[in-house]
Amino acid sequence: MENVKIVGCGYAKAQVRVWNEDLEKIVETSDAWIQQRTGIQSRYITKDENTSDLAYRAAVDALKDANMEAKEIELILVASATPDHFTPATSCLVQEKLGLNGEECTALDINAACSGFVYGLTLASCLLEKYKTILVIGAETLSKIVDWTDRNTCILFGDGAGACIVQQSTNKKMFTYTKSTGDVEGVLKGAGLPIKAGLINGEKNYGYLHMDGKEVFRFALKAMQESIEKVCEQAQILPKDIDLIIPHQANIRIIRHVAKKMQLDEDKFFVNLEEFGNTSSASIAIALACAKEQGKLKPGMKIVLAGFGAGFTSGGVYLEW
Ligand code: UT7
Repeated sequence: MENVKIVGCGYAKAQVRVWNEDLEKIVETSDAWIQQRTGIQSRYITKDENTSDLAYRAAVDALKDANMEAKEIELILVASATPDHFTPATSCLVQEKLGLNGEECTALDINAACSGFVYGLTLASCLLEKYKTILVIGAETLSKIVDWTDRNTCILFGDGAGACIVQQSTNKKMFTYTKSTGDVEGVLKGAGLPIKAGLINGEKNYGYLHMDGKEVFRFALKAMQESIEKVCEQAQILPKDIDLIIPHQANIRIIRHVAKKMQLDEDKFFVNLEEFGNTSSASIAIALACAKEQGKLKPGMKIVLAGFGAGFTSGGVYLEW
């Protein structure tokens, strides 16, 4: 469905702000290196909240923004690569926390890594014929799967959640684009359980997040440009006509490269990775809510969200504010 609007958005920060200087104490790195190579200055890490707790707080914030009661939500979509459990789904836990048990509400999880929120909005736009009000959340506790001895990855990621509420619209359009390509080489992969039980081969380590940063960087440049162009085609506008681009907050150098390649003003890109780091599925959702909080979203604006991540996955959303 094309006639879709966002009626509210919100976010939740994890409890502890961890600065680059704090990481200097645990791995061989420096604030200067991290800032220069990524643009990140800090990230928020959870102390005792799990993904569903952060997701719930973001949902409450979005409901407040929409001036809406939880009971109006008919479908909850949670995108996450770090759910509380394999099962039950994090969306079901959020449903319970929102007090929606027994109500006419369905809950479903999505895993598309850092593209998760874009995939969530895409699914929501397809499902609005059936469900009137859909809560889409991107939520992560990446600190659970980050190897805190690996300086290549541990400096990048943070925890957090962002949420938005979507409904059918009479005058606003949303166009979406998604793409997935099997990453058989494991260029970017999270923790997994071994196929053979420890009983057979003694394997106990569930593994941490692993990433070939350079390979992901190359993929990101192409994927982000492609996603922006694909949704612009559908909206019948040129990328230069977009008012604000909210990209996945992975690395300022990725954003700058894309801006340069597409001949777009860097100011068109909303950036908050210096504060939050890379929060995977939550990143675009948090950025959208922060942009709103900072008064950067004005009625009638043409906005494009662009994500990329493990899978590989990528995608974009064009929306009108
Ligand atoms: O959501 C999607 C997730 N992932 C991404 O978006 C990641 C995309 N990739 C990147 O953002 C970048 O590739 C990184 C930030 C991960 C790495 O930056 P880079 O410019 O590609 O650095 P590099 O891996 O080529 O490393 C350059 C040097 C190496 O040392 P030598 O071999 O030149 O001596 C690394 O060992 O920097 C070293 N290094 C560090 N030094 C200080 C790597 N990590 C660190 C660190 N602190 N944290």
